[in-house]
Amino acid sequence: MKTDENSANHIKIGDVFTPVRWACFAIEQFGIFERWMKGATIFDPTMGQGNLLIALVEYGVEKGFNLKELPILNLFGNEINTNYHKKALQFFLDEFNTDMSGNFSNRDILELPPVPYDIVLGNPPWQTFNDLPDNYKKKIKPCFEKYRLTGNKKNLLLGHSRIDIAALIIKATIQEFLKPGGNAYLFMPLSLLLNDGAHETFRSYTSTEAPFSPVEVFDFNKEDVFNKIATRYGLVHFQRNRHPVFPIRYKILKNKQWELFHATPLTSPSAALSIFKNSDKGEINSFSKINLNKKNQPRQGLNTCGANKVFFFNDCRQLDDQTYLLNDAIKLPSAFVYPLLTASNFRNGKAPKAWVLLPYSKEGRPLTAKETSHWPLLDQYLMNVSDKLRSRKGTLIKNWINKGMWWALLGVGPYNFAPYKIVWEAYGRKKFSPQIFEGQWQANQALQAFIPCDSEKEAKNILQKLENPVVEKILLSHRMEGTMNWAQPGKIKKLINFT
Ligand SMILES: C[S@@+](CC[C@H](N)C(=O)[O-])C[C@H]1O[C@@H](n2cnc3c(N)ncnc32)[C@H](O)[C@@H]1O
Repeated sequence: MKTDENSANHIKIGDVFTPVRWACFAIEQFGIFERWMKGATIFDPTMGQGNLLIALVEYGVEKGFNLKELPILNLFGNEINTNYHKKALQFFLDEFNTDMSGNFSNRDILELPPVPYDIVLGNPPWQTFNDLPDNYKKKIKPCFEKYRLTGNKKNLLLGHSRIDIAALIIKATIQEFLKPGGNAYLFMPLSLLLNDGAHETFRSYTSTEAPFSPVEVFDFNKEDVFNKIATRYGLVHFQRNRHPVFPIRYKILKNKQWELFHATPLTSPSAALSIFKNSDKGEINSFSKINLNKKNQPRQGLNTCGANKVFFFNDCRQLDDQTYLLNDAIKLPSAFVYPLLTASNFRNGKAPKAWVLLPYSKEGRPLTAKETSHWPLLDQYLMNVSDKLRSRKGTLIKNWINKGMWWALLGVGPYNFAPYKIVWEAYGRKKFSPQIFEGQWQANQALQAFIPCDSEKEAKNILQKLENPVVEKILLSHRMEGTMNWAQPGKIKKLINFT
């Protein structure tokens, strides 16, 4: 299919190409070459310069076939970027002496008329919706609805979605370009299967009509397949018109060996997959959710919206009953200064190493202007930093600023002032070690999460339930150890039944 310069498209979205070695790995694992030789049609919906299809031909040549024996015209591809599309055509012409202009289209896959193929072999672009070019975002928004990816419509409309465009391309491709019962083999970000939040909608495992199921996952783990791309990625086999049956096989590359695990969503059919060894299956499956009162729901730490330097201090001395001297320079009423948890408080004792200013009532609402005026030291300090606080960015904090309470933080409510807290490190850890802290202590943004408690007895009771070793096993089964998603409130909430 020819393109003239007027319709040329130079958009660049997730243009990272699959090394031939890994394309061959996919071809070999799933017996794709043999099925192609027997007449199966193969389609790469976002083919870049054609690496995956080229690999099939080169694989055949390696096996001793000559070009004429290979069914090259049963290979099909599509690519949005005109230069990449041209390069793919040129490569097939130069190296394989085959004109593929009837087989390779240069369109947005979301606009290409449907054609059912036997096999999809692809590597869709990976990019979060937020990071796409603005006019392209606008254009494809309706597709997220069409393919049932808008769990939270509002998020997408506000442009806040962390959903990956790979989720859209995969659902659209399975729906429009696979025969019933057809198989798709896709290099893709594993966040679609493993992360909470935006990707839960992908895990309805159904497109506009057809259900589809993940069948097997190869998790590349630390292997640098795509040259220093930080995303966690893998190779996933999906089958169309098949309802998911869990657990599925989940292989992890460790020290150059593929280790076999099993994967299943534990807490709901669309939950992030949990990965475990067969030997842990019984224990994990027998876990029953922890019953807790709604008031004890896990919370994230407070968030200054980029103004840590205004609210956080690393030195504090008591001047008198009512006044602290912070960072050797700033006098503030002690009624609004709280110890802020740091990593060392979880290991080396509970002497405060940091402090946070919370201009809040004990009911968890920001002080009014009238109330701050009763505290001259506080009032003066806030005036000195007012420009910084008023210029903070973000829809939620802007709401407070517009209401005139520009000294507000996010993530502060009555729960911050509960007499006890069970706090744990939620970010970057491999162990789940909740501890009880007296209620003055404050948790810091995504680093720590906590459950507010009304009494020490209540805190001890809940702590005991959280210390069940299966809780840590379940967290480890999400394969988020060492990442920002280790034990965030959302992950812990899924283990709780709220009464
Ligand atoms: C991760 S690359 C993979 C390319 C190729 N399949 C490979 O494995 O080497 C993704 C490709 O998708 C293309 N692309 C992005 N959005 C697309 C869309 N909506 N329709 C078609 N192609 C698209 C990009 O230009 C890029 O070449």
